[in-house]
Amino acid sequence: MSIQIQAKRISAPDIRGRKGAEPVVALTSYHAHTARIIDPLVDFILVGDSLGMVMHGLETTIPVTLDMMILQGRAVMRGSARALVVVDMPFGSYEESREQAFRNAARVLKETGCGAIKLEGGERMAETIRFLTERGVPVMGHVGLTPQSVMALGSFKAQGRDTKDWAPIERDAKAVAEAGAFAMVVEAVSEPLAAKITAEVAIPTIGIGASPVCDGQILVLEDMLGLSERVPKFVKRFGSVADHIREAVEAYVGEVRGRSFPAAEHTYAMKKPSS
Ligand code: KIV
Repeated sequence: MSIQIQAKRISAPDIRGRKGAEPVVALTSYHAHTARIIDPLVDFILVGDSLGMVMHGLETTIPVTLDMMILQGRAVMRGSARALVVVDMPFGSYEESREQAFRNAARVLKETGCGAIKLEGGERMAETIRFLTERGVPVMGHVGLTPQSVMALGSFKAQGRDTKDWAPIERDAKAVAEAGAFAMVVEAVSEPLAAKITAEVAIPTIGIGASPVCDGQILVLEDMLGLSERVPKFVKRFGSVADHIREAVEAYVGEVRGRSFPAAEHTYAMKKPSS
């Protein structure tokens, strides 16, 4: 009999337990190779529906489908072993009814093997979040700027920069926490509002453009690596991967055109004839 010892992945309750403790660190990934690199370093990996804009060059996340999320979710699961993997529910896959949300969330969990799903919306989604969590689906919420509502909002603009706009965002955050979510992304809100929400809810707030007061931070990997062409104000570029790719490709093109690549060490010789 062989015994396989598998490293235990970080779970949704582990992340829930990090409220007010050491900051939770997260990044997005859509592929096995980037998942493999970031897995030992971060607490959770989000397979975000931003993949529509980042990987596919779409203007918004609206056209992203459940099948696209499942395909990339499986790739990220294959490339990771330790971090919690959270897969985004795309626009149209959960808003119609609690039952639709459960059916599609169950598909994501079964077909990817991921540990949790994320969905956007506050008060209006609270009943759905409760329905899912009561049935064993770990849910991460997402309040503040919710990119799937871009057509209703008019643009991707920061939220809560005037105190008169705070109340609905605070109600959203409280509703998500009280409905049973284990954590929530807080996107593009002013620092004082993020501080108020973080103090008021019992679950970790994961900020993206929501200041250092949150319980954790997340960024889109390609944005922080310097691979995305345009990035929001809140992104810090920690690398310049686009420059590295360009330099490597220029070197390759030069060597192919100059016939110095492939060299002898990259070329198969004939087998020695057997005597
Ligand atoms: O889709 C995504 O990448 C996200 C992050 C911006 C949090 O939801």
